[in-house]
Amino acid sequence: MGGFGVNNGTMQVGHIIAFINYMTQISTSLMMISMVFNMFVRARASTFRIGEVFAVEENTSWNSLKHEVTGERGRIDFENVTFSYTGQVQDAVLKNITFTIYPGETVGIIGSTGSGKSTLVNLIPRFYDVTGGTLKVDGVDVRRFHPHDLREKIAIVPQKNILFTGSVRENIQWGNERAGMDEIEQAARLAEAHDFISDAPEGYDTMIGQSGVNFSGGQKQRISIARALVRHPEILILDDSTSAVDVATEMRIKAALKKYAKGLTCLLIAQRITSVMDTDKIIVLDEGEVAGLGTHEELLEKCRVYQEIYQSQIGKEVL
Ligand SMILES: Nc1ncnc2c1ncn2[C@@H]1O[C@H](COP(=O)(O)OP(=O)(O)O)[C@@H](O)[C@H]1O
Ligand SMILES: [Mg+2]
Repeated sequence: MGGFGVNNGTMQVGHIIAFINYMTQISTSLMMISMVFNMFVRARASTFRIGEVFAVEENTSWNSLKHEVTGERGRIDFENVTFSYTGQVQDAVLKNITFTIYPGETVGIIGSTGSGKSTLVNLIPRFYDVTGGTLKVDGVDVRRFHPHDLREKIAIVPQKNILFTGSVRENIQWGNERAGMDEIEQAARLAEAHDFISDAPEGYDTMIGQSGVNFSGGQKQRISIARALVRHPEILILDDSTSAVDVATEMRIKAALKKYAKGLTCLLIAQRITSVMDTDKIIVLDEGEVAGLGTHEELLEKCRVYQEIYQSQIGKEVL
């Protein structure tokens, strides 16, 4: 249009240029408005989500009673513990669990998937509260501990290990931020992780990709174990943490753990019967109940569930 106008002599080039300039300014402003509007919508959604998180009420009440440590350090007592995620008695995941773990003992927990092994150990650091009965650590009801005091004693390697983006060193240090390089290395050696970490091109500074894609399952598990050990816990809980580690390495980790801490109470959840065979005692869980408790030999003699697991995994006739 402008071209024709200029050709006919009815318009000036300057007018056209001015017109285009003004139009550009107007359209840029319109675009800005729509962008800001977009940001408002996103901010609104985020605000709702943050509000939801803040509105969650902690359903475990902590009374910051300073407890008096009277009992033995590292002792765990389950007294008639019942637990259900819903609070309903008929959905109980754990029923009438009673046992005692003495300081320095290594205790194996075995049972089919869904039998409540992870739930049982999650009660100890009080991720959930017992529905019935009492759970004691050091001879004191866990509900009487200050959360910080209770959780400082316990290191737990969860079934699903989580590594963060960052270096191997940072990931291990996450267990204890005051740990120096020598402590980190010691923990890694105990967890049989030192060798493969130092073989990596950048050693302890090797970056871990998102959720640990550049490490194998067994390597990730061993880094997680190192992270737990660097805390110097009184109670160590390994929830199926050596499932992806070969048997020979697992044996070495267990031997190292034995040497590392005489007073360390260790709970070892495992699927493989060979992982728990040599522990001080074994708890057999079956559908939320203790189906057997004792050493490997005792259970092999008396406990039907244990015999079944043994037969299915080792494949020999027991009786
Ligand atoms: N967060 C949860 N909410 C509700 N039910 C759960 C939760 N976690 C586990 N359960 C249920 O508790 C039972 C025991 O689970 P779990 O302790 O994880 O078993 P295990 O570790 O022995 O495989 C299962 O039946 C499972 O469905
Ligand atoms: Mg589990």
